[in-house]
Amino acid sequence: MRVNTTVNIGGLVLKNPVMTASGTFGYGLEFEEYVNLNKLGAIVVKGIALNPVKGNKPQRLVETPAGIMNAIGLQNVGVEAFISEKLPLLKKYSTPVIANIYGTDVDGYIKVAQRLNDSATAAVEINISCPNVKKGGLQFASDKDAIATMMNGIKKVFTRPVIVKLSPNTGNIEEMAQVCEDNGADAVSLINTLVGLSINLKTRRPNIANVFGGLSGPAIKPVALAMVHKVSKKIKIPIIGIGGIMNTTDALEFIVAGASAVQIGTANFVDPSITGIIADGIKSYLDDNGINSITELTGTLEY
Ligand SMILES: Cc1cc2nc3c(=O)[nH]c(=O)nc-3n(C[C@H](O)[C@H](O)[C@H](O)COP(=O)(O)O)c2cc1C
Repeated sequence: MRVNTTVNIGGLVLKNPVMTASGTFGYGLEFEEYVNLNKLGAIVVKGIALNPVKGNKPQRLVETPAGIMNAIGLQNVGVEAFISEKLPLLKKYSTPVIANIYGTDVDGYIKVAQRLNDSATAAVEINISCPNVKKGGLQFASDKDAIATMMNGIKKVFTRPVIVKLSPNTGNIEEMAQVCEDNGADAVSLINTLVGLSINLKTRRPNIANVFGGLSGPAIKPVALAMVHKVSKKIKIPIIGIGGIMNTTDALEFIVAGASAVQIGTANFVDPSITGIIADGIKSYLDDNGINSITELTGTLEY
């Protein structure tokens, strides 16, 4: 049987629903020797800002019982180097490149999006899990007005799909998803990491220099699944499910919960070829179960 694995994310057609999660796949190029990048639905690169950022001092990453915790500090090469040095090398692949972006204030986000509009970037994914320096560090993720202003600004300067990546660390992720949809987002992705703390009892110090870190991996999967499902009941735009996806079964569970596509993050640290394996696995699942199209599975959770 010829199964159809293509999905449409706000006008961007992907050959399959498997994307990489920002920050866990570098700029894609680092994974060339492990996975055929042409197999992926999309490559989402490390979060990009207007200027290069060195990130936090080490220790920046620590293992936890069912995942990892990180406080990288949004290290990146900056938008100019991304466009001139990274993007040209990804041109040889047919896979769309999605730029995850962030800023320290609303203007910063808009400027990065504007600069990317004249590049081969297929879409932007806005990371709103960042503090707004102009508002004394209040997270964009829980600031409806800032999201609305940002969305309106970005939609004016970026002409391709705009995805907003939601944080699980706000009171009401469904409400924030609604704000994104109301202000023109083409899709939402969820979830980003959950705030965590890891302690070394011997030294009574945090294991991460930044003290707090973002928890990811299998530990957050049930939380992410619940949030994807709840958000799917609230909004009509496509949802990209993220959180602890380690294999094909996990990915399919997110689709059944209501996601149109998925992103693979922490699993890349365990097996750098996992994204290709999951893309193949989804195709086999459809084949084995006589399902013509992956879209038939989206949001089919019964209860
Ligand atoms: C080391 C590391 C760096 C990350 N960097 C970013 C980033 O730059 N921008 C972003 O939106 N999310 C970032 N994330 C969050 C992931 O994209 C993803 O949302 C999260 O890890 C949950 O998925 P997972 O459990 O499959 O890893 C990062 C995660 C990790 C582990």
